[in-house]
Amino acid sequence: MNDEAPHGTSDFVVVANRLPVDLETLDDGTTRWKRSPGGLVTALEPILDRHSGSWVGWPGVPDTKVEPIVSGKLHLYPVELSSGEVTHYYEGFSNATLWPLYHDVLVAPVFDRGWWHTYVDVNRHFAEEAARTAAEGATVWVQDYQLQLVPRLLREMRPDLTIGFFLHIPFPPVELFMQLPWRKEIVQGLLGADLIGFHLPGGANNFLFLASRLLGLDTTTAGVGVRSALGEVRLEDRVVRVGAFPISVDARQLIDEATAPAVVARAAEIRRELGNPRRVLLGVDRLDYTKGIDLRLEALGELLDEGRLDPSDTVMVQLATPSRERVEHYVKMRSAIEEQVSHINGDHGQIGKPVVHYLYQPVDRRELIALYLAADVMLVTPMRDGMNLVAKEYAACRTDFGGALVLSEFAGAAAELRGAYLVNPHDLDGMKNTIIEALEQDPDQGRRRMTRLHEQVVEHDVHRWAESFLGALSPP
Ligand code: ADP
Ligand code: G6P
Repeated sequence: MNDEAPHGTSDFVVVANRLPVDLETLDDGTTRWKRSPGGLVTALEPILDRHSGSWVGWPGVPDTKVEPIVSGKLHLYPVELSSGEVTHYYEGFSNATLWPLYHDVLVAPVFDRGWWHTYVDVNRHFAEEAARTAAEGATVWVQDYQLQLVPRLLREMRPDLTIGFFLHIPFPPVELFMQLPWRKEIVQGLLGADLIGFHLPGGANNFLFLASRLLGLDTTTAGVGVRSALGEVRLEDRVVRVGAFPISVDARQLIDEATAPAVVARAAEIRRELGNPRRVLLGVDRLDYTKGIDLRLEALGELLDEGRLDPSDTVMVQLATPSRERVEHYVKMRSAIEEQVSHINGDHGQIGKPVVHYLYQPVDRRELIALYLAADVMLVTPMRDGMNLVAKEYAACRTDFGGALVLSEFAGAAAELRGAYLVNPHDLDGMKNTIIEALEQDPDQGRRRMTRLHEQVVEHDVHRWAESFLGALSPP
């Protein structure tokens, strides 16, 4: 990456809290770029590989000025955040107020007026950078909960632009959203867009109800469909459309990688390295309290305690990407999970044979795909998740139609992935029984289920998601 990217020339601009790459400072003081964590980057990267365009975002470190850069066809425009802004806007309002509020209040959201003011200021910085970057009449696509005020701010600065907004996390039930002291400002901020997208019709319908109830606006009342039957909010001078567009993965790319001989060989090698167990269970998550890693470990622990799983022939691999490590509930969740792993291994492991292999680190993409191929049962058990791309990645990679997916009903992906073993992660006995059912599935039945899952993801990939959103944003 090098060469400076010029401002004011981009016809297509993505604005997200993070750039697709994070600047990392090494121990010797030198810096390098690494891939940013999370599903938003996973989904948008392949889109921007196809549409040449620009990406406005934070490079992941505070108090660091980075000049605009060109990375292949993509122009990156870094937004600088001070350490105070990271604390109040990112860790505070975004991840200790909005994140828990939008995820069913799994932990109590903190309502802090200072954080809110910084959120407003930082959203303005992002809007200013997007306004500088976009060419006359460009399309700007604003992403996620960290930037909900950007659509309105940007429209005030640049009325010539077409503005889309997509929320990557659940949009909460109205009764929860109403707790937010700045609820009107958030809804007004989003209404600066021409099209507001959610993963599921439920989120879109909640938003329409709020626009009518909170702001007294004229809205459609018929239910929104999936990629169809958009809702409308009618403002004095324009109409904002509201729709449901379930995000997905780059299935074709994953299939290519998952069928590469080196990756297939690595999957077999992983099973050997794990001691050739009869059964391999897998969990892959950002370490987040919404993901239900603790609940699945509890289920595993009880199955081992009760003798329903044999520790001599069963292994679980749990990958956990470090995330938001200075936010209190993330610190607590990490300790709780690590304690659970130690308990299980303490009670059921043997020398050189732990039952749970736990890695608190991101792994290389090919290694991740090899793990998907090596796993007999993939456990995706969030208490709430906007979509969950891990579930879709697993289904896309299983071109052999092997394996089984245990999936929480509370992940957005459950609405589409009906071939999964669906579970309520709060129902521990139900989850234990379902894990056993998935482990012991009849091979033909398992193959039928995985074929259905795989085909669903191939037919509804991330390109279809982007085309349906961008097609609705700028109809021909
Ligand atoms: P979220 O966006 O909340 O993190 P998703 O499941 O939608 O959840 O997306 C997570 C993305 O991060 C997926 O693309 C997944 O492959 C990737 N990922 C998660 N954990 C790891 C890990 N330990 N190493 C590498 N990639 C990971
Ligand atoms: C989720 C959010 C993204 C976020 C990602 C990683 O996918 O929807 O907006 O980027 O998690 O979280 P982080 O706080 O590290 O950006």
